[in-house]
Amino acid sequence: MKFYIKTFGCQMNVHDTRRIEEILVKAGHQPTQESREAQLAMVNSCTIRQKPWHKAISETGRLRKGKLKGSGENLLVGLVGCVAQQEGENVFDLLSHVDFVVSPDNYAQLPQIIDDLIRQKKHIAVTGFSEGNAEDFLSIEHVSENEVSAFVTIMKGCQERCRYCIVPTVRGPERHRGAEQILNEIRHVVSLGVREITLLGQKVNAWQEGERRFFDLLMEIDKVAGLERLRFTSPHPRHMTPEVIDCFGQLRTLCEAIHLPVQAGANTTLKRMGRRYTREDYLNIVERLRKARPDISISTDLIIGYPGETEDDFRETLSLIEEVGFSSAFSFKFSPRPFTPAEKLNDDVPEDVKSARLAAVHELVNAQETAFRNGLRNSELEILVEGEGRMKSQLSGRARNHQIVNFVSAHPLSQMIGKLITVRVTDIHPNSLEGEIV
Ligand code: SAH
Ligand code: SF4
Ligand code: F3S
Repeated sequence: MKFYIKTFGCQMNVHDTRRIEEILVKAGHQPTQESREAQLAMVNSCTIRQKPWHKAISETGRLRKGKLKGSGENLLVGLVGCVAQQEGENVFDLLSHVDFVVSPDNYAQLPQIIDDLIRQKKHIAVTGFSEGNAEDFLSIEHVSENEVSAFVTIMKGCQERCRYCIVPTVRGPERHRGAEQILNEIRHVVSLGVREITLLGQKVNAWQEGERRFFDLLMEIDKVAGLERLRFTSPHPRHMTPEVIDCFGQLRTLCEAIHLPVQAGANTTLKRMGRRYTREDYLNIVERLRKARPDISISTDLIIGYPGETEDDFRETLSLIEEVGFSSAFSFKFSPRPFTPAEKLNDDVPEDVKSARLAAVHELVNAQETAFRNGLRNSELEILVEGEGRMKSQLSGRARNHQIVNFVSAHPLSQMIGKLITVRVTDIHPNSLEGEIV
């Protein structure tokens, strides 16, 4: 069967889509980028806020309708990902056009589920969480020629229970993957040509196995021959230990860029969010990170208009942003989610106030992002060549600080892919930089 997957949500979902593809290809199915061609269409969904939930749900309808207007062949429509776990069988009452629902810990069963659907043609819902044993963490077996970066899952689920967050409900309890298995997967993908690894987990820096802590793991991964770059996402400020911070100054592969969600700048708000660190803790971590690695770029996530957020609280968010100077930030209005304690709080910040605060944050963050990028002009950046560039005769790569750089190359992509080169930044465009090889 030809299958199509539309993905919403965070890097975890992006990585899961990759694994679903591998599972289905192994079972004899073929991926297609054209939803109209597919006999099997899936929406890999996100429910972190209400908007992505809506988007995912409506996408299932769009796929069904698009197909009916098309060739009219039988089409199986599935909802997978975080909404699948949240809604389970309810989806069939909500959406009569959905044939199956499979949550993230159950993707290995997809080939069987599809066979059953073809034979019996009735609704199937498979949800629930795995134990977290070695076999529950699926490794990537193959990488394509152009894949120079890969994600490696080091933990599933989250038990932090920040009061606004649905992730612990939809991704389940925290299960940490064994270090040997993590290292084996990394060695394997590096042997296939991958140069950059991003470790994945909702509280990635809380990883541990017996006495081994996250920084031990970073130090071991750093020694993997052939690996050039290491990143991790998302760390929780509460687990940014001095040892993890020191790694930024010590490890060859660890990139000088960190996405460290802060959520809010006022201690009263952080407390009501259940974040378990203070504004001062966060600023202290930032200071120590910059001491360890002066050129580190720091990005963040912010929630605007959390229940009870006063004008003064909000000003503390603005002043924290000013104090840190982020290279970029994702900021969204608070969105009440089912099964979370914050859902029961009075969502008392009026919509127009939320909008005004969000606009103020966007303005400040955009100015910081522009300043950060303008500061890169004339600097020399090491880039990992990833693909074709913006214009003909250009290739493109990514700097250690995540910036995309286009440059003119005398050699074709096939000779340059996966290479590390140094470029001098000559121009700054809205979504990329331009550089010349040094
Ligand atoms: N594990 C990561 C974040 C995962 S969710 C961490 O703890 O930092 C990604 C982002 O979505 C969060 O950082 C937060 O900013 C946002 N988010 C989560 N729940 C939300 C909600 N109910 N309303 C608005 N934003 C939310
Ligand atoms: Fe959600 Fe908090 Fe866990 Fe992040 S750490 S996934 S915000 S509960
Ligand atoms: Fe969304 Fe699930 Fe990620 S809810 S943010 S896709 S873990």
